[in-house]
This record gives sequence, C-alpha cells and structure tokens, in this order.
Amino acid sequence: MKPSRRSILKSLGAVVASHWVLRANHVFAATPMRIGVIGAGSLGGTVGRLWVEAGHEVMFSSRHPEQLASRIRGLGPRASVGQPKAAAEFGTVLLLAIPFEALPQVGRELRSAYRDKIVLDATNPWGASRSDVYREAREFGVAQTVAKYMPGARLARAFSAVDATVVETSATRSAGRIGMPIASDDAAAMQVAARLVRDAGCDPVIVGNLTAASVFEPGGPGFRAHLTAPELRKRLGLSDAD
Ligand SMILES: NC(=O)c1ccc[n+]([C@@H]2O[C@H](COP(=O)([O-])OP(=O)(O)OC[C@H]3O[C@@H](n4cnc5c(N)ncnc54)[C@H](OP(=O)(O)O)[C@@H]3O)[C@@H](O)[C@H]2O)c1
Repeated sequence: MKPSRRSILKSLGAVVASHWVLRANHVFAATPMRIGVIGAGSLGGTVGRLWVEAGHEVMFSSRHPEQLASRIRGLGPRASVGQPKAAAEFGTVLLLAIPFEALPQVGRELRSAYRDKIVLDATNPWGASRSDVYREAREFGVAQTVAKYMPGARLARAFSAVDATVVETSATRSAGRIGMPIASDDAAAMQVAARLVRDAGCDPVIVGNLTAASVFEPGGPGFRAHLTAPELRKRLGLSDAD
C-alpha cells in the first residue's frame, strides 16, 4: 500500500525531532556544567572534586566558607566556595549532600534557588534519630521524603548508595569501576545524573523511578553493594539494557 502524504510527513517529523534530540543531547554532553554542591563534607567534597577534574565548574557550599576555602583553592579556577544559598543559585545542577536531619531547613531556605533545577540527591537517613524526618523516611520512603521537603526540584537519587571513599577510587580500582544506582521520575534529570556519575569515574545503573529507589535505600540490596555495574544489575534483577 502506498504511504499517504500525511504519514510521510509524520515520519519525517519524527526523524527531524529525533535528530534534534540527539543533537541537543550531544551538545549538552560536551558542555561543562555549573554545579552547586550543597554540603561539601565527605561525599559532596569528594564528588565535587572529581567533577572539577572532569572539567565542570563547581561551587562548594559551607555555612563557614572561610574554613573550606583553603581546601578548595588547590582545585584551581573552576572551583569556588560559597554559602549554601550562593551555591544553589550558582548551579544549573545541584548535588544535595547534607545530613538528613538538615533536609527540612535546607529545603525551606533554598527553595527559590533550587526550584525547577535538577538536584542529585545523595542523602540518607543514616544512623539512629527520633526526628520527624527520619520517621517519615521510614514510613514513606527516603526519596518520597526528600521530594516532600524539596518541592519543585527535579530530583534524581544518585551517589546515595556508595561510600565516598569508593567513589574516589572507582576509576582506578583493579576490580573495575563501581556501578552507581540512580533513579528519577524526570527523564532529563536521569540523563544528567548518568553523565555526572560517569564524569565522577563510576558507571550508572538506571534502576527506575523514585519509587524503585527503595532497593538502594539503607537496608536494601543495592545499598553499599560496591559492585561493578553488571554485578549490581544482576543483584537487582535488572536487564543488561537498563
Ligand atoms: N560519606 C559517605 O560516604 C556518603 C555516601 C553516600 C551518601 N552519603 C550521604 O550524604 C550526606 C552527607 O554525608 P557526608 O558523610 O558527606 O556528611 P559530612 O561529611 O558530615 O558533610 C555534610 C556537610 O553538610 C553541611 N551541612 C550540615 N548541616 C547543614 C545545614 N543545616 N545547611 C547546609 N549545610 C549543612 C556541612 O557543611 P558545613 O558544616 O561546612 O556548613 C557538611 O560539610 C548524608 O545524608 C549521607 O547519608 C554519604
């Protein structure tokens, strides 16, 4: 059967659209990003440094930036230090690496700065606490609790399930690069998370949406597994294509 003019135009439109999506992705992937690291302790400090080395511009936050400045100076001109609000405003992408207890306060105080931005969420309710935010994480899930306190953020769970020391050595490990589980409800946030995981010397393992992130919460099979990507996929029952 001869294809109709309408169906030819429709297919052509799809080809042009996919060309532009691929092109946009290519340009995006080749461009250094401006990243705000909210909480530059063990995890944020380590991952932020790896991103600076990968060519990104990173502002590391501290409530006492003067104490952090000497550590950051050695990283060169792509690294800077500021208060949490300044780092959140600086970044087009943010890494959230604060203690879980600080989530309600940070979520409230930085709201205007993170709204509509991609936020890679590495936080965990780690250790014992009687606080409401820990109780909510136990009851409703970690990702869901972060989403509640960070309204308007385009969240991806990333860097939450691997120790900072393992991220630091991932690219040079004799056992192979570490598989980093990531999850998001937002396709663009997932894509950015995957790229920044690679740029930190790890291999992304796409687990699914934020609900699926429960498999790499503390206590889940993907938490601190410290496996390569194929090994982690196997443990989580994911196909090789994921
Ligand atoms: N360490 C790891 O291996 C690892 C791995 C995966 C996930 N995580 C998760 O990542 C998060 C950070 O862990 P970490 O080990 O990096 O902790 P950390 O070394 O204690 O660093 C936390 C940082 O958060 C900042 N901070 C604390 N309270 C804050 C507040 N109210 N407002 C703004 N900033 C605040 C602190 O900066 P200032 O005091 O300078 O302001 C500090 O540098 C936790 O949720 C943890 O569960 C950690």
